[in-house]
Amino acid sequence: MNSKQINQTGNIESAQISRNLTRRDFLRLGLVAAGAIVVSKVAPVLAGGKPPPTTTRYPLRIPPGASPLNYSLTAAPGSVDVGGGKNSSVLAYNGHFPGPTFRANKGDSASIQFTNGLSEATTVHWHGMIVPTAADGQPQDLVAPGANYPYEFQINQRAALNWYHPHPHMATGKHVVLGLAGAFIINDAEEAALGLPSGAYEIPLIVRDANFDSAGNLVYNPTSSGYLAKNPMVNGTRDPYLNVDSAVYRFRVLNGASARLFKLALNNGALFTLIGNDGGLLETATQVSQIEFSPGERLDLLIDFRGLASGATIMLQDLNTGWNLLEFRGTGVAGGGSIPTGTLSTIARLSGPATPTRSFSFDGMTRINGQEYDMDRIDFQVPFGQTERWRFTTKGNAPHPIHIHGASFQVQSRTGGRGKVFEWERGWKDTVLLNDRETVEILIRFDAYRGTTQGRYLIHCHKLEHEDQGMMANFVVV
Ligand code: C2O
Ligand code: CU
Ligand code: CU
Repeated sequence: MNSKQINQTGNIESAQISRNLTRRDFLRLGLVAAGAIVVSKVAPVLAGGKPPPTTTRYPLRIPPGASPLNYSLTAAPGSVDVGGGKNSSVLAYNGHFPGPTFRANKGDSASIQFTNGLSEATTVHWHGMIVPTAADGQPQDLVAPGANYPYEFQINQRAALNWYHPHPHMATGKHVVLGLAGAFIINDAEEAALGLPSGAYEIPLIVRDANFDSAGNLVYNPTSSGYLAKNPMVNGTRDPYLNVDSAVYRFRVLNGASARLFKLALNNGALFTLIGNDGGLLETATQVSQIEFSPGERLDLLIDFRGLASGATIMLQDLNTGWNLLEFRGTGVAGGGSIPTGTLSTIARLSGPATPTRSFSFDGMTRINGQEYDMDRIDFQVPFGQTERWRFTTKGNAPHPIHIHGASFQVQSRTGGRGKVFEWERGWKDTVLLNDRETVEILIRFDAYRGTTQGRYLIHCHKLEHEDQGMMANFVVV
């Protein structure tokens, strides 16, 4: 095994790797490969600035839609045009990178027959979906190469953008970075009544970073501190553009990177209308100029292009790197739409204890409360139906995006560091960013599944390299 092998994607000889991979191997490989990383320094484009004219841009890929009611999903090596007409080796779901966008209604029953076409074990986890353990795609429930597994669950939760991705211990980073991720959108009556932009005016955006080898294939060359790649990519497209009508658009945005925070802004200084996040709609819409979000978090954003003339452009940017993520090009075609005012959604506030029920310290790059993940150890038990207050702290190596399976939560406070709860952290969340020197408190209640066979879940850092190295814990709702 060498670092070259782990860089090859389509040829999944690299697949051998994680079966016998120890954490030490992981670190060693990571450090070897790290030498290849060159951090690009791109000057931020100032508000109102124009993108460099030399960049050739490619049409943004929109993944095909799919119903999860009865669907066959296969993960396998694939070959995909990531821009420019030349194919790259990736890992794909049903040949698509990103995978198909599932759409279902609250009340539906999902039945997804999964086939593992990789040459190493994997799982499918439905991030944000409240499902019983057997359908949660946890590391204990690996699907062997060539094997099938039926993921079956009831959708009993509110409208939201969730997503799906592999969750095999010590190989999640590799599988996700090499391409395995897709959107899962739940609709419900409350949301439908709002008449938000839909059809061609509702677009999922999976934002991430990526490295390519000299042949243009996706590669994964992590460091133990987190994988920061050199190029932005949206919906598996490098340097994308999207033609937009004179209309209000709804963007369902996922940070699909393994470790990178993105700070979104529009280069003309226009505001986003923030309407939702991980757990669906917020109570009301808010105008914001910048939003920073971490791996696993979602945003529901409206952008008003009604004033955009034919041929005029606006750039979606990442202020942390200065990257131009996505160029919007006006068509001048009238499309309409409006920005909602008033109540979007009713959110029942959790009320719970004023002092922490439990505390979690995210330590180093591998531990929670001093312990590395052991898939055979249950670290704590949570009483069913009771609201608890959980406190998150860190002794460094942040950012740690903290993610919990099995329930959504409400962020109560952030002290130290950035010192506040942001607009996009209101409502319901399943992932929250814990940065250096910060203490974050949440209220959470598990009221769907319980017991070791149904209600065993995970809490972990969603920086995939931290997760893979053991910053993860099992718990059971009892
Ligand atoms: Cu998106 Cu446990 O993961
Ligand atoms: Cu999850
Ligand atoms: Cu972390």
